[in-house]
Formats: sequence, structure tokens, C-alpha cells
Amino acid sequence: MNVLLSIEDLHLKFRTFWGTAYVLDGVNLKIYEDEVFGLVGETGCGKSVTSMSILRLLPSNAELSGKIIFEGQNLLELPEKELRKIRGKKISIVFQDPMSSLNPLFKIKTQMGDIIKLHHNIDKDEALKKAEKLLRAVNLPDPHRVLESYPHQLSGGMRQRIMIAMALSFEPSLLIADEPTTALDVTIQKQILDLILELKKKYHFSVLLITHDLGVVAETCDRVGVMYAGNIVEVADVDELFENPLHPYTQGLLSAIPDPRYKKPLKPLRGNVPSLLEPPPGCRFHPRCDFAMKICSKKKPKLVEYSENHTVACHIYRRGNEK
Ligand SMILES: Nc1ncnc2c1ncn2[C@@H]1O[C@H](COP(=O)(O)OP(=O)(O)O)[C@@H](O)[C@H]1O
Ligand code: SF4
Ligand SMILES: [Mg+2]
Repeated sequence: MNVLLSIEDLHLKFRTFWGTAYVLDGVNLKIYEDEVFGLVGETGCGKSVTSMSILRLLPSNAELSGKIIFEGQNLLELPEKELRKIRGKKISIVFQDPMSSLNPLFKIKTQMGDIIKLHHNIDKDEALKKAEKLLRAVNLPDPHRVLESYPHQLSGGMRQRIMIAMALSFEPSLLIADEPTTALDVTIQKQILDLILELKKKYHFSVLLITHDLGVVAETCDRVGVMYAGNIVEVADVDELFENPLHPYTQGLLSAIPDPRYKKPLKPLRGNVPSLLEPPPGCRFHPRCDFAMKICSKKKPKLVEYSENHTVACHIYRRGNEK
């Protein structure tokens, strides 16, 4: 499998009124071609800012360092003009709330038409034809009616399909979906996830699926990265992660959901997510970890290979030393 996107030692700080927030603490991850990679973790752990870093869409109080390699180029060093050829085109994104990306004052045809016309350099009629085709591709019945509608006249699920259609209009090689179904009813959630999988199968793009929901990961992803307080603490194939979670945090997360595949008794999580203004030294999870050792508050554990397709960042796992 070829690597499509590689994030290497990504650090992100925010300067805030209250001090500096050390939000990403050396994130490393790889997304392969034609895979669905799930990034999972509790609210505030840094999933969205990771995706915004990829597209360099962070606010001005952000300080970013590290590398994000896409098609042989470091996106963090690319001039803005070059990045514009990638952002929204080779790498597109859909957000949790499609209403925030749609303008309530304009019909869908105006919003889709304008973007398609501008970026594909085609006339209005052609752009509308393309918009209709895209709406069909995301299984929206009666695309003509949809194009004539204002966003508020459509359901949340329909709006999310429109956002996916727009994201796909430039045939991206990576689709970032940031909690794409969190705002939707459970039945609609499943339909949207199925749609993403169906489109991925057809067009062979990779998906970075961001979610706080392990159920979504289990249903949708090939591989998964678990994030805690700005670190990736474990990466594995989905089945492997559910069957053999190694990191105490992953085990805690899994204990919160009933899953018949997980056989070992689990310890639920205690305590709270730390403040990123003063993150705990060493392993950021140590104040909540029942297995913490002396070294854990002193030295940050590196993400190391435990077995094929399974890496973990925890001092318990030194080479050949299973807990
Ligand atoms: N513009 C900002 N200024 C300061 N802190 C921010 C800003 N944006 C996000 N953060 C902080 O970064 C952390 C990660 O946020 P986020 O990536 O949105 O989390 P997630 O998507 O995992 O819920 C949070 O602690 C959040 O408060
Ligand atoms: S490194 Fe230490 S504190 Fe962190 S998860 Fe592993 S055992 Fe727990
Ligand atoms: Mg988020």
C-alpha cells in the first residue's frame, strides 16, 4: 500500500488570553491510498485541529511545526498559491454541521453552480449540469428540486449529501470527514456513512474519518488512530484494535461501549481530560492511568511498533514485553 499523506511530528500551540495551549504534541500518522482511516478520541483531544492543520486553515493565534507530506510535498512549507490547488480539490473536507458551510440566503444551485463554475472554468449551464450529476451521485432524489431549494428547505441528511457532493466535485484523493454524522439522527447517520463508503469504492479516494464514536469506527474504518490530549497513542487495523487494545486509554474508551469482540475485562476511564495550558509531563495520560510507573511522568512514550499493523505509545510495551 502506498502512503498518501504522512503527518510527522506535528506540534501545534495556540496563544490564548490565558497562556499558551500545547494542543498537538508530536502527532505522527500515515494515511494510505484507498483506505478509510478513523481518528477517534474524546472532545477536545485535537482531532479537528489536526485536520485543519492539513489544510492550513488555522486561526492566526496558531503556531504549527512538523511536516505534512502529501504527494511528495510538505504542505506546511507550500506557498499559499500552491496550497490552493490542493485545498478543497485534492484534499476536501466535510464538517459536522453542513449549515455552517452553506449560505442560508442562496439557493443550492447558486452555491454549487458558483463554486463549480469558478474552479472548473466552465459556463453556468455546464456547471448546473455538473451539479445535477453530482447530486445524483450522492443519491439525492430529484436533484432539480434540490438545486432550486434554499438550505433550510432541506433535511440535515440532504444538506450533508450536498456537502459531500461538493467535496467530490474535484475528485479529491483525500476526503476529510470531521464528525460528518454527529448532528444527524441515527438512521440518517448510517445512510451517510454508507454513502461515503459507496463513493469511496467507486472513486477510490482515501477518507480521514474523524469521530468521537467508536461504533462509527467499527462500522466504517479500515484502520484507526486513537488520540488523547494531542497525541496519537495507538494505531491499528480496526479488528485488531477492538480485539486487542493495548493502550490503557484505548482500553478505557472501549470499556464504555459493549462490544462482543472485546474479550478481556476492561477498566473504565477515571478523571478528566487535562488542561492543555499545563499538560501533564511525560505521558499526558499518566494522571488517569492505573498502570502508571515512575517513568510515565518523566518521559513521553514514543509510538512504537508492537506487531504488524499495530503501534502503541506506552511505556508498558517495550519490545517483546507484553503486559
Ligand atoms: N482557536 C483556538 N484557540 C485556542 N485553542 C483552541 C482553538 N481551537 C481549538 N483549540 C483547542 O484545541 C484543542 C483541540 O480542539 P479540537 O481539535 O477542536 O478537538 P476535537 O476536534 O478533538 O474535539 C481544544 O482544547 C480546544 O480548546
Ligand atoms: S505510558 Fe505509563 S501512564 Fe502512559 S499509558 Fe502507558 S502506563 Fe499509563
Ligand atoms: Mg472536532
